[in-house]
Amino acid sequence: MVNVILIDVSGLSRTLQVTEGQSLMQAAVSAGVHGIVGECGGSAMCATCHVYVDGAFSDQLPTPLETELEMLECTASERLTNSRLACQIKISAVHEGLLVRLPERQ
Ligand code: FES
Repeated sequence: MVNVILIDVSGLSRTLQVTEGQSLMQAAVSAGVHGIVGECGGSAMCATCHVYVDGAFSDQLPTPLETELEMLECTASERLTNSRLACQIKISAVHEGLLVRLPERQ
């Protein structure tokens, strides 16, 4: 299991224990995290799993595919340089302690 820390807009943090190979979106939805919707089920088609990844982990994530970049144009909250879709982040051991912030809305 890999520990991933989610911080909501009010500053509250929650640590999820994520199974390797699971996406961050799947883990958050399964845990009932408010602020991650995952409407399309992880197909990079809805942008309701938008997160801001802490800069310390930017090198640990794969380069976003074109489909993810296109969908990040449609986020409900502002897109920042560290915006990613949680459904495209497959958790592995290198993500231990990954810190992500949730946007104001999805
Ligand atoms: S769950 Fe739809 S884009 Fe991530």
